[in-house]
Amino acid sequence: MNFTELALKRQSVREYINKPVEQEKINKIIEACRIAPSASNSQPWHIIMVTNTEIKNKVAKATYSNAVSFNKFAPQAGAIAVIVIEKPRIITQVGGFLKNREFPLIDIGIISEHFCLKATELGLGTCMLGWFNEKKIKHILNIPKKKRIGLVITLGYAPDDYKLREKIRKETNEISSYNKY
Ligand SMILES: Cc1cc2nc3c(=O)[nH]c(=O)nc-3n(C[C@H](O)[C@H](O)[C@H](O)COP(=O)(O)O)c2cc1C
Repeated sequence: MNFTELALKRQSVREYINKPVEQEKINKIIEACRIAPSASNSQPWHIIMVTNTEIKNKVAKATYSNAVSFNKFAPQAGAIAVIVIEKPRIITQVGGFLKNREFPLIDIGIISEHFCLKATELGLGTCMLGWFNEKKIKHILNIPKKKRIGLVITLGYAPDDYKLREKIRKETNEISSYNKY
């Protein structure tokens, strides 16, 4: 699978079968995240892989509520990754402050895509979740109060008949230009 094929194959998977994710595959996904680039090579992330079913279900339930129904598929996932934002190196902190840039947020976006692309290559499905109860998940996973969770990612096997959807995206000329805005 070349890069374009992989990028087209990656999609948000919102249905999973009851099959655990092999440890070997989790290791490969974490390795794909480990080699990702980051501002000043700060690597300001900590990935909590939630594989214990009981804990995983608690985390999953903190991504939806009766009022917000859209992440209700999360408990089906074999595993859930919680991406915690760590403090970047001091040089990145100073640079970010002076230039008014949130480098760690950019960095965790990059590892999250590394995560999802590697999982796709290994035949797994993922869905990045930006909607979750941060306080609840921090409590469940013992994450220090001061730290922030950047993203939650579901990981697991999609049903065999799960369809590859066409990408609904803006046109090229809407998202890019040459030599001026
Ligand atoms: C930062 C971020 C947050 C997201 N949050 C959610 C979410 O809470 N629930 C969900 O079902 N999908 C979520 N998504 C998935 C997007 O809806 C999805 O990537 C987008 O619609 C494009 O579809 P595709 O991933 O299938 O290509 C999120 C994606 C990103 C990048």
